[in-house]
Amino acid sequence: MTVEKRKLEHIDIISTQNVTHDYNYWDDVDMVQKSMPEVDFDEIDTTTTFLGKKLKMPILISSMTGGHPDTKKINENLARGAAESGIAMGVGSERSAILNREMGDSYSIVAEYDVPFIIANVGAPQLIKQSKKALTNEEVDYAVKLVKANALAVHFNFVQELSQPEGDRNSKGVKKRIGDLSKKYKIIAKETGAGFSMQDALEFKQLGVSAIDTGGRSGTSFAAVESMRSREKADERKERVGRTFWNWGIPSPICLIYSNVELPMIASGGVRTGLDVFRGLAMGATLGGLASTFLRAAIQSDREVSNLISQLETELRTAMMLTGSSNLKEIKKVRRIYRGRLLEWMNQI
Ligand SMILES: Cc1cc2nc3c(=O)[nH]c(=O)nc-3n(C[C@H](O)[C@H](O)[C@H](O)COP(=O)(O)O)c2cc1C
Repeated sequence: MTVEKRKLEHIDIISTQNVTHDYNYWDDVDMVQKSMPEVDFDEIDTTTTFLGKKLKMPILISSMTGGHPDTKKINENLARGAAESGIAMGVGSERSAILNREMGDSYSIVAEYDVPFIIANVGAPQLIKQSKKALTNEEVDYAVKLVKANALAVHFNFVQELSQPEGDRNSKGVKKRIGDLSKKYKIIAKETGAGFSMQDALEFKQLGVSAIDTGGRSGTSFAAVESMRSREKADERKERVGRTFWNWGIPSPICLIYSNVELPMIASGGVRTGLDVFRGLAMGATLGGLASTFLRAAIQSDREVSNLISQLETELRTAMMLTGSSNLKEIKKVRRIYRGRLLEWMNQI
């Protein structure tokens, strides 16, 4: 199985099948509203600064793709939308371009647009020796330069790797590598749907990472994605591992409490709407990141991506107005009520 082919299978499965966690914990975060907010909707200020760069809105198109000629258009549609609306975007794991430089333009297309913040991407498992050799410093540098990145996301996806027919199984040595890379790049430690614990976050801080993309449980489940892939390959054992761990992980809102170690945080994992972005910001995040929601738009057209971004903006502003928040700082003061299964976690952490 080539990396390129796997990328297309992920896109196909995620855009056509139900592979989300069975419960979205963002729905358990209620906001206390104001009927007399004293705010003018049109004057609401949604600008923010992330790792030194100004953004028009606190939204990130989370890392997804690249690495196959068919993915170039998806990245282009996303980049055009991100540039037009002044939001941040990431590209998917760049390993396939590192291994096969001909794939480079499916990623570097994003650098042709005026995206205010671009995030390069490599996998933590690939930073150390597995059955294949670890990425070298030169290869990581190639990935950063290829997309003219402002920061480098190192993604953690061990629940996916262990559910995958061809997955990596070693994690020894990742910490040292992250510590070394943090001396050269702005590193964003990024989960992909299972979420970081408080111990993880404290260690990232010690290692010198610049931000944490919390990537918790509430949205896309990569154990589920891999279970589907295994089923298609008639690998019954892995299919069952993926099913068993389908709902593995720390709920996304909890990750924001765990990861609050005075580094910028990105709320992600199951963020679907501008209200979810608002919820994440209220709980301390600087940005809200969406992946699968953007994927479905980007597969269609650049216009769909723009429509989605303005929809998110309208919903974010609506939540801001209804809570009397005229800028993003004021969101943090909004009173929240936690309920349902989220509260069960809250009561025990
Ligand atoms: C099609 C697809 C491909 C992805 N590939 C990557 C990747 O290469 N690197 C990465 O860090 N995250 C990757 N992700 C994970 C997302 O960035 C995100 O953490 C996860 O999907 C949870 O967000 P969601 O619930 O909004 O989809 C991918 C997600 C999707 C939907």
